[in-house]
Amino acid sequence: MKFIFGIALCSITVNSFAQTKFPYQNPALTIEKRVADLLGRMTVEEKAGQLNQLNGGAFTGPAVNNVGQNEKIKMVQSGAVGSLLNVVGVADTRAIQTEAVKSRLHIPLIFGYDVIHGYKTIFPIPLAEACSWDLEAIEKNSSIAAKEASAAGVHWTFAPMCDVSNDPRWGRVMEGAGEDPYYAGLVSAARVKGFQGNLNDNKHVLACVKHFAAYGLVEAGREYNQVDVSRVMLWNKYLPPYKAAVNAGAATVMNAFSVVDGVPASANKYLVTDVLKNKWGFKGFVVSDWASFGEEINHGYAEDEKDAALKSLQAGSMMDMESKISQKYLPELLKEKKITTQQLDEAAGKILYQKFRLGLFDDPFKFCNEANEKAVMFTAENRAIAKTAAEKSIVLLKNNNNILPLDKNKKVALIGFYANSKPDLFDFWIGQGNSNDAVTVYEGLKSKISNISFCNGYNGDNSSSETLINEAIQNATAADVVVVNIGISGKMAGEDRSLAYPQISDGQIALLKALQKTGKPVVALVSSARPLILTLAEPLVDALVQGWILGTEHGNAVASMLVGDYNPSAKTVMTFPYAIGQIPIYYNHFNTGRPTTTDGLGNWYSRYRDIPNEPLYPFGYGLSYTSYDYSEVKLSSSTITKSATLKVTINVKNTGLMDGEETVQLYIRDYAASVIRPVKELKAFKKIMIKAGETKEVSFSLTKDDLSFYDADGNSIIESGKFSVFVGPNSRDTKKADFILN
Ligand code: BGC
Repeated sequence: MKFIFGIALCSITVNSFAQTKFPYQNPALTIEKRVADLLGRMTVEEKAGQLNQLNGGAFTGPAVNNVGQNEKIKMVQSGAVGSLLNVVGVADTRAIQTEAVKSRLHIPLIFGYDVIHGYKTIFPIPLAEACSWDLEAIEKNSSIAAKEASAAGVHWTFAPMCDVSNDPRWGRVMEGAGEDPYYAGLVSAARVKGFQGNLNDNKHVLACVKHFAAYGLVEAGREYNQVDVSRVMLWNKYLPPYKAAVNAGAATVMNAFSVVDGVPASANKYLVTDVLKNKWGFKGFVVSDWASFGEEINHGYAEDEKDAALKSLQAGSMMDMESKISQKYLPELLKEKKITTQQLDEAAGKILYQKFRLGLFDDPFKFCNEANEKAVMFTAENRAIAKTAAEKSIVLLKNNNNILPLDKNKKVALIGFYANSKPDLFDFWIGQGNSNDAVTVYEGLKSKISNISFCNGYNGDNSSSETLINEAIQNATAADVVVVNIGISGKMAGEDRSLAYPQISDGQIALLKALQKTGKPVVALVSSARPLILTLAEPLVDALVQGWILGTEHGNAVASMLVGDYNPSAKTVMTFPYAIGQIPIYYNHFNTGRPTTTDGLGNWYSRYRDIPNEPLYPFGYGLSYTSYDYSEVKLSSSTITKSATLKVTINVKNTGLMDGEETVQLYIRDYAASVIRPVKELKAFKKIMIKAGETKEVSFSLTKDDLSFYDADGNSIIESGKFSVFVGPNSRDTKKADFILN
């Protein structure tokens, strides 16, 4: 990606920075004092300028009120821009920063970029990474992404996405951590810590918690669609991951495109001021999503741009990404006394605070070091970490007769267009990654298995033909085992990639049917950035592997898992639906008044007449090459008080022949409460290594926090009554014990 200004500005040096004329330029003072001093010297226009974020590179949203390149540069030089997004690389960030610090008060820019799953070394999509249940590794992965991005002049990533979603039709499920609020909170917090680390070391970037809030609820999975959510659901299910990320110290938060309670998120005072700032004590700054201030007009909430700028600031939102209205109208609105100096100072001050915190006032070129940029980018070490992350993300869904792992000496027929297509390995959010650097499944498997054939089996649009299928049959017949890579291209993942049919195409199903007829064992590897409906594919194959979209090391990781160099341990963090009609589907639903499991109700209970209620694979599900046996659950007491700790213990035995890592999951149920509670809620988990034949005792401690929930006003409450604890390898196959909370 090339910086769009495209002019050679690099040779200019700025001496004014070396001098500390004013208190705000004195590093010995506290940031608070420096911000206050600087605000005191700024004009209203300069303050409004800090709230202005313009696109400086490739477009990651629609062009709105376009500003020409020369005008943009003039705006930067005059202090009318606080931040640029999508400008990356030392050369380009240095060039434009040079212009910014020529402004009257020499205020540096902050450069933001979507570093979603890696900058140059691409990691598994966040949804897949979350299936690892390995928080330490997740934090590490984000820190590598931050290391590469910061070396390329980036100060701020627009991640993590903390939106809980139950809808695989929505393309952005790939960016999150799945359907569970508690687990998504832990993952989001780990990502924030990984990105931000110790900000002073030039190896980290500011994080941005997005999209606040409830964007994952877009109706029917259609991008940018309306959202309808009750306060009780907001508090209990949708807000927890954002809260966890804020508590982990995230410096910024991004508004959502959605409308909550009839008010666009960008102008939603309840969300931005009442909850985020006042209830959670968030001290950082809030940035709009791309043009979301201006979109308040389309939503029918703001009359015009000026009204939108006013309503956004009044709600507590601060930086205007690409609407180009705050910088334009805020000075006028101040003159008209529609906003106060205090409001403008608070917004500009919080943005300036982060610039001071990053050290940009002391050295605006702190992240501009060409040698470092070269040295840290796409190193063998980073790739090795990305490979491990990819291995840990692969979910084994079915493995009849232990067909996997593959015997390296057998002849393998690898079939499937995606197994040999680099561009389809990458999604939209790949930073500066290059799909030519990514390893395909064909390349990966060839490095492990010498006797291997390949053919496409279907076309790039997922259709097939007699010729392609016949070729596949020939290859399969000549081999001992078939590995067929089905699914959907990575290019179909991310923003603006909603799908009405998240499923395996007719062409691929026809291929599977033909392969099954050959009588050869068939292993299906699914590439997709969301759970697809695999119901038709599942009975046609002996083994089923959810291979997601795994980044640069995709093929190496898949190969290592298929041949058993890596024993799979991932567990899905999104339910795999049985049919489209079940969507949205999730494990932590409520009981109905006529639950399916209740006998004696005749026909009148909650069910479908044409399909089961149960999903194909539940939340938390994933197999290993070994097997585990769970004992009964033991509780330290069958009655506890609200201040007590309940100890939960279970023994897990590795009953197979291979050492393996198992994620032991603990769920609870609260049977009667003033606000109804889900049939199961994840409250704890442990990922442990168990040697073949070994039994490990796993224990958990449940406290007040685990047993409480939120009312509609966001107050945490705990109520006495009957509870169950469930422990198991997934949300379905659990062992249960009851207790009473007094
Ligand atoms: C997306 C954000 C992203 C921003 C900047 C928007 O369209 O919704 O997630 O950070 O663009 O690229």
